[in-house]
Amino acid sequence: MRIVSVAAVAACLAACGGPQTSQANNSAANISNDARPAPTASASAVTNASIFDPAPSKDEAMRIHHDRHEGMEAIGKDNKIIKQELNASVPNLDLMRSTAAKMSTLSEQASGWFHAGTGQELGKSGAKPEIWQNQADVAAKLSDFQKAMKAFSQTANGSDVGAMKSQFANLAGTCKACHDKYRMEMHH
Ligand code: HEC
Repeated sequence: MRIVSVAAVAACLAACGGPQTSQANNSAANISNDARPAPTASASAVTNASIFDPAPSKDEAMRIHHDRHEGMEAIGKDNKIIKQELNASVPNLDLMRSTAAKMSTLSEQASGWFHAGTGQELGKSGAKPEIWQNQADVAAKLSDFQKAMKAFSQTANGSDVGAMKSQFANLAGTCKACHDKYRMEMHH
């Protein structure tokens, strides 16, 4: 998925020229707003492919089921590090920035974690079946998370700790919005 959108951005950079590239950058948002099954093959169909399309094979489904769990756990750890630093009397900005960068990458990868057939049918998972019954809503919540993550990272590259705290609170709200409806606690 990510490779496709990077390719689309590259294609547009080549074809559209400067100012138009913001359209390519919006392609992630278009995916989120469009949960319809992708139409037949064309450049735009590829970029609009649903993040909920069934996994192409059983092996892929197993991998995604695993990646989602590991990825979310890593996001949770990064989140804790940032929270600790923001609460410290002297936050370690370098650590916060590098952690935010890792977490941003994971937030983009999360677009590949919701393919159909990767839920509890494959074994233990905190992903509720409701995810696949409310695709447009899940896509919107994922997109809110990705946007809040970007906004936080940008702020973290500055030096206004107050602004970082407020963006971080926003970000935490986007985790909660998705978890409240679509995640159940797993007891290991
Ligand atoms: C779009 C929905 C969504 C968003 C946004 C989201 N999560 Fe999750 N999260 C899930 C789902 C679904 C699971 C269960 C995954 C599984 O077990 O397959 C999960 C699981 C987790 C887990 C437990 C690991 C696991 O797999 O059981 C942690 C920790 C976590 N999320 C942290 C976060 C944090 C921190 C944020 C925000 C910075 C966040 N998540 C944003 C959907 C989301």
